[in-house]
Amino acid sequence: MTLFEKALRVRENAHAPYSNFKVGAALRTKNGKVFVGCNVENAAYPQGTCAEAGAIAAMVAAGEHRIAEIWIVADSSETVAPCGGCRQKLAEFSSPDMIIVLAGLEGERKRRTLFELLPDSFSDEHLS
Ligand code: THU
Repeated sequence: MTLFEKALRVRENAHAPYSNFKVGAALRTKNGKVFVGCNVENAAYPQGTCAEAGAIAAMVAAGEHRIAEIWIVADSSETVAPCGGCRQKLAEFSSPDMIIVLAGLEGERKRRTLFELLPDSFSDEHLS
């Protein structure tokens, strides 16, 4: 299965009873492993998590830490891009040239690098 197909499929499992907006994400690591995530909302709204966060958590739990490419699938007339918090989460495990593909149910719509979506980002380099 392609990353698009994996993201499309996991999107079906999203728990989004409050927004009714399902999102699926599938990422491939630099080591070639694939992890998926979907958004998981909560009755206490701020406790909900994005699809990207779920995929990142699965990746880290498996001992992987470097993302090469991520596909994000949502059903919207406007192309859906990751929220600011998820851009920052992705940056933690990516280089600026990491590929972020924004997709609708029909397939790819836009392709961006992490740098294009999050220039001048805060990172561990600022903590030293
Ligand atoms: N959402 C994601 O999971 N990823 C995105 O890139 C955009 C937004 C989720 C969060 C929330 O559950 C729902 O979409 C509506 O904001």
